[in-house]
Amino acid sequence: MSRKVTKAVFPVAGFGTRFLPATKSVPKEILPLVDRPLIQYAIDEARAAGVKEFIFVTSRGKSALEDYFDGAPELEAALHEGKKTALIEALKQTDMDSGAVAYVRQQERRGLGHAVWCARRLIGDEPFAVILPDDVIDAETPCLKQMVEAYAETGGNMVATMEVPHASVSSYGIVDVGGQTGTTMSVRAMVEKPKAADAPSNFAVIGRYILTPNVLKNLEKLEAGAGGEVQLTDAIAQEIGRRGDVHAFRFRGQRFDCGSKSGYLQATVAFGLARDELRGEFLDYLQTTLDSLREPLREKAVARG
Ligand code: UTP
Repeated sequence: MSRKVTKAVFPVAGFGTRFLPATKSVPKEILPLVDRPLIQYAIDEARAAGVKEFIFVTSRGKSALEDYFDGAPELEAALHEGKKTALIEALKQTDMDSGAVAYVRQQERRGLGHAVWCARRLIGDEPFAVILPDDVIDAETPCLKQMVEAYAETGGNMVATMEVPHASVSSYGIVDVGGQTGTTMSVRAMVEKPKAADAPSNFAVIGRYILTPNVLKNLEKLEAGAGGEVQLTDAIAQEIGRRGDVHAFRFRGQRFDCGSKSGYLQATVAFGLARDELRGEFLDYLQTTLDSLREPLREKAVARG
């Protein structure tokens, strides 16, 4: 039987350049969807999957993340005094067991693979999850929980995948599953950011992984790959040849790429509409906006006859 996954690594040391100037002083992971920062969604997903230890790989300028999971006694006292029960409840989401959160620094941004490797001493010799908080997944059963359940059957390494348009494959790690279909597929090859013409499929790896400690050993010796960065994909791909235990998992749910402006805006709309207290007013606004955008098009069509 596979060992339980109780540790998750959250690599959050990137610059987040696509959100400059905001990310000059605010970590990307603190940007909110409605009223909860991206990192809160990631933590909740990990908790739901049974994770007990949360390892953040941070860098300079990320202290807001550490503060987010710290106590806030003055704020709490003020809320208690004002009997703001709903807000006290909201704040409780950020409570973490003492000692459950650990931070390790990636001193140089050398890529996602290098960031995960920086956590090796905290991970030790056991399977672990990796969650990229800028991939937010809206799902009935949280994505990592779906993966943990599938992993209980397969063991080994597992990457979350989804089909992407062929034109977008060069932005992702792409898996070769030899034409198989299904929820869990055996991976025959993996390539980071291939040209569309060279891509073995349109199954893209997105930011959820369950990995064996062997991947950490591979990272130890790995040279920089695509984009001059140490690629996690390359270290996982080495396990295909050695042990043949890499699985692609097709999750059920909708993924939002909150590392891109467009994906972030889409997620804001989706999560905004999902909130009972916002839906009515927000939907009215969207409807009116859409109507006002369509009106000139309609007028043009009428003028053209
Ligand atoms: P991205 O490729 O999205 O880079 O990293 P980024 O810096 O966050 O954002 P852009 O592209 O400049 O806008 C994917 C994940 O890997 C982490 C990032 O924090 C993000 O969670 N990462 C990346 C590291 O922790 N260290 C690195 O050296 C590179």
